[in-house]
Amino acid sequence: MEVIITRDYDEMSWVAAQIIRRQLIRKPDSVLGLATGSTPLGTYKEMIRMHREEGLDFSKVTTFNLDEYLGLPPTHPQSYHHFMQENLFKHINIHPGRIFIPNGMAEDIDSHCRWYEEQIKKAGGIDLQLLGIGSDGHIAFNEPGSSLGSRTRLKTLTESTIRDNARFFERAEDVPHFAITMGVGTIFEAREILLIAGGEEKAAVCAEFIEGPVTARVTASMLQLHPIVKVVLDEAAASQLKQAGYYCWVQQQKQKLVGMPSQVSFLRRPVSKK
Ligand code: GLP
Repeated sequence: MEVIITRDYDEMSWVAAQIIRRQLIRKPDSVLGLATGSTPLGTYKEMIRMHREEGLDFSKVTTFNLDEYLGLPPTHPQSYHHFMQENLFKHINIHPGRIFIPNGMAEDIDSHCRWYEEQIKKAGGIDLQLLGIGSDGHIAFNEPGSSLGSRTRLKTLTESTIRDNARFFERAEDVPHFAITMGVGTIFEAREILLIAGGEEKAAVCAEFIEGPVTARVTASMLQLHPIVKVVLDEAAASQLKQAGYYCWVQQQKQKLVGMPSQVSFLRRPVSKK
């Protein structure tokens, strides 16, 4: 795992967007795995800016979202379909036929989940998977206790996740109790993984999944076994890491390698001169 500690939320978002940009330049027809939640909003804003101002091209890109609430139609303002449309897709030149999000209204959930997995395979697998993390350590909606080999399926949300996500809904009772989510095993097959987290409320769980044991209790900890993972944190989210000094040292040392093939420094965003 490469842990990149940034100053604040904006720098975290900038670094994440740079990693995605680099992927698209390397492979314009990349398959991206995308996430929802408040954490990726800044990353999506930066991707939109790069599209508008620098011509970053999404015309050949395919995307797979991690999850969707059960029972919410795509038009529902709290559905993840709606979130993605409003916060990314409608602002970039992605082909609507290459956008995949689990269908929360699927009648036959099991066969829909199998279909979703098949579409990922058909697209050639996910090149780069963007993730946030829930305060209980979940990735997508893989709540504590999820099998580390799990595939796309229906999942019951924990009461704490329902409470966390109630802020997006008018009433806490409106939060769905179920979701269709990629499994930990599905996510693990992505060629590269990029997890972002910001804020003090994520500090304890970040220390657990990065430096604690690999356990189904904190499904993000499975990422320790993946060969290519970047974790981009702001200082607050990194504040309980025991090895923070080493992670910063690594980034400083890597500055010396800039210019060598495949070495890119994400240490500091250039501060714009206004
Ligand atoms: C939801 C999503 C996750 C996301 C998490 C954290 O549970 N299913 O993919 O990582 O929320 O959200 P936030 O970024 O708002 O803290």
